[in-house]
Amino acid sequence: MSVKLNEKFLNGFVSSHEVEYLKPFAKVAHDLLISGKGPGNDFHGWVKLPVDYDKEEFARIKVAAEKIKKNANILVVIGIGGSYLGARAAIEFVKSPLYNNLKKDTPDIYFAGNNISTTALTELLSICEGKDIAVNVISKSGTTTEPAVAFRVFKSLLVEKYGEEGAKDRIFVTTDKARGTLKKFSDEAGYETFVVPDDVGGRYSVLTAVGLLPIACAGIDIDALMQGAADAMQAFKTDDADKNDAIRYAILRNALLRKGKNTEILVGYEPYMLMLNEWWKQLYGESEGKDGKGIFPCSVIFSTDLHSLGQYVQDGQRNLFETVISIKNPGAKFVIPDDPANVDGLNFISGKELDYVNKTAMTATLIAHNDGGVPNILLEVEDRSAYSLGYLIYFFEFACAISGYILGVNPFDQPGVEAYKKNMFALLGKPGYEDMKAALEERISGK
Ligand code: PA5
Repeated sequence: MSVKLNEKFLNGFVSSHEVEYLKPFAKVAHDLLISGKGPGNDFHGWVKLPVDYDKEEFARIKVAAEKIKKNANILVVIGIGGSYLGARAAIEFVKSPLYNNLKKDTPDIYFAGNNISTTALTELLSICEGKDIAVNVISKSGTTTEPAVAFRVFKSLLVEKYGEEGAKDRIFVTTDKARGTLKKFSDEAGYETFVVPDDVGGRYSVLTAVGLLPIACAGIDIDALMQGAADAMQAFKTDDADKNDAIRYAILRNALLRKGKNTEILVGYEPYMLMLNEWWKQLYGESEGKDGKGIFPCSVIFSTDLHSLGQYVQDGQRNLFETVISIKNPGAKFVIPDDPANVDGLNFISGKELDYVNKTAMTATLIAHNDGGVPNILLEVEDRSAYSLGYLIYFFEFACAISGYILGVNPFDQPGVEAYKKNMFALLGKPGYEDMKAALEERISGK
């Protein structure tokens, strides 16, 4: 087991009878998911994905990654939300947040089309000057504004630089199998395409081509990633909450919510977990935040944020709980040097491993936050390998679905995301939105 749930810092916050009361709800939720009969079941494709995936496409992903590695110094990955967060999280977790600065035989990877910032786009274009570029555009719908604008820009850049024919070797499109406009366009243009399966929503798509192609381009072992997820899938087949940590996590979150803990902070003690936190926030926020319900997901990296948000967590409003990820084996070793002058008075830790100090900071914080009235769920993850990450990804996905069903929502839709888009399209003058535009302009002018 690569991920283990530890409840020792929940003592006094959730009683065993509260867990017992929620077990029947969790059993039903598990059955709804495994039987494929739950709400949103047309988006249950991710459940069996770790074993039931398109092997031919998986092989093509590896070939495409090799081609990109050979042809490009820079891979630009264009996508937003579920179409980029998983890949970026995986690359930073397994490789490094400083991946682009590492010595390596794989291309630098930049993410575009996840904002509408002029600065971000122009900076990236300037970084690309004089470099060999490949592009992986990822959009299930093919019409999302942010990635669509970025793809217009990079497609023209590649065609200008390499010609129509040359661009075909450098543009890789991950999109809907048949319906989307991007698929039709790519087939006509001769770009290689990969599929976002119909029954897998964006935030559950990291183990499809959406995540796998960029992840493979970073030199990460995607077989090991899938194996980790497959082993998690096997482990979570049981509906016994005492043997299934994903169910247990879902129960604990719901128990805490029901006693007013409506904000969950995902805590990492490694900067390489920052984007994993972002991926997790989308997964839980978009899955549970609906119908006036949900736990607000936020995140921190400690000890960094102990020096900014630590005060609030210790002492602010008591509606918080934390889920702390501890990486058991840090991989590298670093020993704190001695300072004969002992200027900082820290010679009592000379010769100690830095990770020992990090873990001690974690234990000290867990106890302090408990004392301050903050329940903590501890998730112990074996290491930062692709295998463990695959296991962790599936753990969070599975727990999220169970948790959403216990909460009484459909964890697979996201109706709320459309609201801003409609307003934006109306204000930008999209045909068909004329009445809405007039009404919005009236509101804006305050008439
Ligand atoms: O989870 C989701 O469904 C969203 O975050 C989408 O992934 C995001 O909006 C991008 O959509 P698309 O892939 O259609 O461009």
